[in-house]
Amino acid sequence: MDASDMGDDLEKVLLSEEQLHTRLDEMAAQIDADYAGKDLLLVGVLKGAVMVMADLARRLHTPLAMDWMAVSSYGSGTKSSGVVRILKDLDTDLTGKHVLIAEDIIDSGLTLSWLLSNLRSRGPESVEIATMLRKPEAAKVEVPVRYVGFDIPTEFVVGYGLDYAEKYRNLPFVATLAPHVYSV
Ligand code: IMP
Ligand code: MG
Repeated sequence: MDASDMGDDLEKVLLSEEQLHTRLDEMAAQIDADYAGKDLLLVGVLKGAVMVMADLARRLHTPLAMDWMAVSSYGSGTKSSGVVRILKDLDTDLTGKHVLIAEDIIDSGLTLSWLLSNLRSRGPESVEIATMLRKPEAAKVEVPVRYVGFDIPTEFVVGYGLDYAEKYRNLPFVATLAPHVYSV
């Protein structure tokens, strides 16, 4: 699948499938090295993190468990406010676990900052973050991120789990949207 399969909805491919996979190999090797012999729990935040969870988990040799949360952040329109409600909580007790949050993208950082302190309060051995994408210039709060796939400009992107109005999550690459898609 490439950008032309989406008609003219996409503007340009920012990160190709190959670029994503090469970087995932590197991230997984680093995570394996860091978590050798530890009780690892991967936590994914629905729905955007499904791709990065599946692709990272398949590359890891460290024995691990996977669990999921769904959260909604209150805010005006597309802006996240940092006030978060849990729609689906983890099934797993975090006591003594090494938790690694797998994320699609860090934008303002508000959602993840809230999630980090929420999970830390549950008695885990450690909590770290692996994100495929980060927009450094959009940061409103500093979130300590252990593993970053790519830093990208402050542009709205879709694909590889990321949506616009619930579409485009299935694209195997990351692309920017053509302006006409927003201005309907
Ligand atoms: P924040 O870091 O609290 O601002 O929110 C991050 C969340 O906003 C992500 O998990 C995505 O669901 C969404 N988001 C942020 N930037 C983008 C983007 O460029 N495309 C699609 N979703 C985005
Ligand atoms: Mg979204």
